[in-house]
Parts: sequence; structure tokens; C-alpha cells
Amino acid sequence: MRDEILLSISDLCKSYLDAGSKKDGVMALDGITLDVRRGETLAIIGESGAGKSTLLRLMAALERPDSGKILFQGKDLCTMRREELRRERREFQMIFQNSSASLDPLMSVERIIREPLEIHNEDAEGKRLSRKAMNETASALMAKVGLSPDMRKRRPKELSGGERQRVAIARAIALGPKLILADEPLSSLDVPVQAQILNLLLTLKREMDLTLVMITHNLGIIRAFASRVLVLYRGRMVELVSAERFGENAHPYTRSLILADNATMDESDSDCKPGCPFACHCPGCDERCKRECPPFSEIENDHMASCWHMM
Ligand SMILES: Nc1ncnc2c1ncn2[C@@H]1O[C@H](COP(=O)(O)OP(=O)(O)O)[C@@H](O)[C@H]1O
Ligand SMILES: [Mg+2]
Repeated sequence: MRDEILLSISDLCKSYLDAGSKKDGVMALDGITLDVRRGETLAIIGESGAGKSTLLRLMAALERPDSGKILFQGKDLCTMRREELRRERREFQMIFQNSSASLDPLMSVERIIREPLEIHNEDAEGKRLSRKAMNETASALMAKVGLSPDMRKRRPKELSGGERQRVAIARAIALGPKLILADEPLSSLDVPVQAQILNLLLTLKREMDLTLVMITHNLGIIRAFASRVLVLYRGRMVELVSAERFGENAHPYTRSLILADNATMDESDSDCKPGCPFACHCPGCDERCKRECPPFSEIENDHMASCWHMM
């Protein structure tokens, strides 16, 4: 079913205390409302500091929001008891930009991949596993992500960046998740390796019926592979659009990202309260934009944006 909803997020807010000043915290996310559809590839873009990683961490229940709801298959992750969350976690897994930071440097490749199986003591089908079966499953996972068996005993630092990312992916799919949350999974890799890892992710997505949410700054990837694109600016949603329409009749901020050919530009400085957060940088800004923040509203089918001039 195409439009079945896997993850339903409503009015999510998250702030961090600003260690540098006594002011109120930094509003990392401000009123995010979004459905992730089963089977889609949702790309998230926005300049650095926009809140992309925070949103992914909240989706993965690695952190709790200040307010708002995150329903995964109808169940609220924010209020779930620890034990239940632990069980639910096998369904959604994160992949990070820098897998050397997320992989235990002292563990062998085999051990890293086997660990989630050990923790849950069952495989993707929920079958109890003997030690031997876990090793076999780990070997099968290595083959699945294109790692040769002779890498079993290596440590992460004895692998290339691409190989490490394959290990991280094997670990992420070990328990048969439904949702993969990837935070710039290709950014630290050389260009030819990026293509290999992207192809791997897309093959696995197809074979395992995964839903993929991916932060990326590569507009080519978005055009070729995403189903929808979410554009964040200073913790808010400024545009959510189908990938086919991405760039057409785009929000002025999205246009600036496209012009820079880099969907994670450096953070811009000034804020424009109480108006549209992008007003100070927007070529089309008028008095109303400076005065009132535009609501995030439907522009056309499968296209939402927050801009007075697009309504
Ligand atoms: N653990 C944290 N402690 C304090 N501030 C944080 C933390 N994580 C993120 N932030 C702040 O929240 C905002 C959004 O950060 P982040 O989600 O990392 O943005 P992005 O991934 O889009 O670059 C930034 O202003 C950042 O400084
Ligand atoms: Mg980030």
C-alpha cells in the first residue's frame, strides 16, 4: 500500500541549553509535523545547524523531544517504557556519517555485526539463535553487504571508509528493521565509493522492503533516488515536496540551496523574528514577511511550504 504511514510525527519541539550564554536554549526543532510513508525514501536537506541530525535522533528514539509525538506504527516512542522501546528498536536503525566513531574500535567486524543478534538473542525472523547460528547469520550479513569473509577478524581501523560503512549497514540490517535512518551516510566517502554504498543501500531497501530517511547534501542523489524531500531551516519545516517536483516552484530558501548546489550550506547568521525566519535572506521579502511567520501549508498535491508568496 503506497501511502501507509510508518512513522507519524506531530508538533515536535526540541531545545538544547546554550552552554555559552544564560539565554534560553537553542531551539533545534520547532513544530515538526510529518508522516513518513512506508517504502519511501525521504531526503532531508538544510544548512548545517538546521536540526536535521536532531530530527533523526528523535526519530530513532535516541533522545526525547521537549514536546510532541512520534508514533512508530501507531505506538508513541516518546512515552514508551524502556523494555518496550528496547524491543521496538530492532525495527528502526541508524547509520551515521562517520562509522569509525560509531563502531567499537576494539571489536572485530564479525563481533560488531553479531552484537545486535546477541543482544536480542534472535534473528530477523524472531528465531532464537545458537552461537553457531549467530556466526552463520553474521557471515551471511557480511556477504549481503559485500564484505569478503577474510575481513571477519579485522578491526574497524583496518578497513577503508567504505568497508566500515558496509559494516555499519550490516549491523543496522541484522535484525530486519523496517526503517533505516541515515545521517549523511556518504559524506565521508570518496565519490566512487559513495556510488557503491548508495547502490548497496538502495538494493537492500528493495530486497528488504525498507523505508529510508536520509540526510544528504547531494542534490543529484535526491533527484535520482528520493521519493520526497524535506527542507529544514532553523529547526522548522520550510518545504516538503515530492522529488519529481523538487526545485519547481520552490521555496526561496530551497532555491538558494539549489543555486549553491549544496543542500547543506553553512549556517546563516541573523534571525528575522517575528516574521518568516528566512525573511532577512530572501530576495522576495516584503513587509508582511518581516511581520508575520507564514504557516506551513499545502501549495498543491504533495507539496507543502511555508511562504506567503507561494500560497
Ligand atoms: N547535544 C546538543 N547540545 C547542544 N546543542 C545541540 C546539540 N545537538 C544539536 N544542538 C544544536 O541544535 C541545532 C541543530 O543541530 P543539528 O541537529 O546537529 O543540525 P544539523 O544536523 O542540521 O547540522 C544546532 O544549533 C546545534 O548547535
Ligand atoms: Mg547533522
